[in-house]
Amino acid sequence: MRVGILGSGLMGAKLGTIFARAGHEVVFSYARSEEKLRRLARKAGGKARFGTPREAAQDADAVLLAVHWLRFDDVLAQAGDLSGKVVITCSLPMNADDTELVVAQSSSGAEELAKKVPGARVVAAFGTVPSEVLFGVYAARRRKQRPSLVCCGDDPKAKKVAVKLIRDVGFDPIDIGALRLARYTEPFTMLIARLAYEVKGGPALAYRFERFK
Ligand SMILES: NC(=O)c1ccc[n+]([C@@H]2O[C@H](COP(=O)([O-])OP(=O)(O)OC[C@H]3O[C@@H](n4cnc5c(N)ncnc54)[C@H](OP(=O)(O)O)[C@@H]3O)[C@@H](O)[C@H]2O)c1
Repeated sequence: MRVGILGSGLMGAKLGTIFARAGHEVVFSYARSEEKLRRLARKAGGKARFGTPREAAQDADAVLLAVHWLRFDDVLAQAGDLSGKVVITCSLPMNADDTELVVAQSSSGAEELAKKVPGARVVAAFGTVPSEVLFGVYAARRRKQRPSLVCCGDDPKAKKVAVKLIRDVGFDPIDIGALRLARYTEPFTMLIARLAYEVKGGPALAYRFERFK
């Protein structure tokens, strides 16, 4: 499928590279230098290229939004009309110094995004793991036991698209339901970030849920 990357930083660059290696047609966009985007596209190989946010969104089967909360309005304005598009967000509604969620409990970053892009089919996915684990998960994708990855959204067809990409990266997708459930997944990510960056063991951390009979 065609995947437009809006925000080619830690998350967007890695996920876009993995999507390209998994055979998708990726367009990297939105970084502070065109040279970085060019380099990313070249290194990702396959059918990867780079462009403006508008070019990344155009004809995309899915768009990955991977920017800081404070950059949402700017990148969305540059991307243009996203109505009808599958917009997968890994972005969290963090304050400027990335210490606190600025939206929680009564809403979520994903729901606020959905209000900003009426008509787009928003799915929250990939935001619950640190970028440092992504290449490792992709490398281990043939293992029998994959790490879990929760996703949520209101449009079943959009979630199917997200689930395919989640599988392609090497996770076991868990569809937890409606977009409003991002109210749970976003604070959960604060726990994951705590474990990844503040507790001994390193940031290449994923999670897996198990049921016992
Ligand atoms: N990093 C993680 O492990 C992680 C995990 C889960 C969720 N998240 C969430 O995912 C989202 C993306 O995180 P990230 O760590 O990937 O962020 P990041 O590394 O800062 O990437 C953001 C991208 O936006 C670009 N950008 C910023 N300001 C810009 C401007 N003025 N003009 C053009 N481009 C600009 C950056 O350009 P440059 O490339 O030039 O810097 C970068 O490509 C955030 O909402 C974060 O909370 C991150």
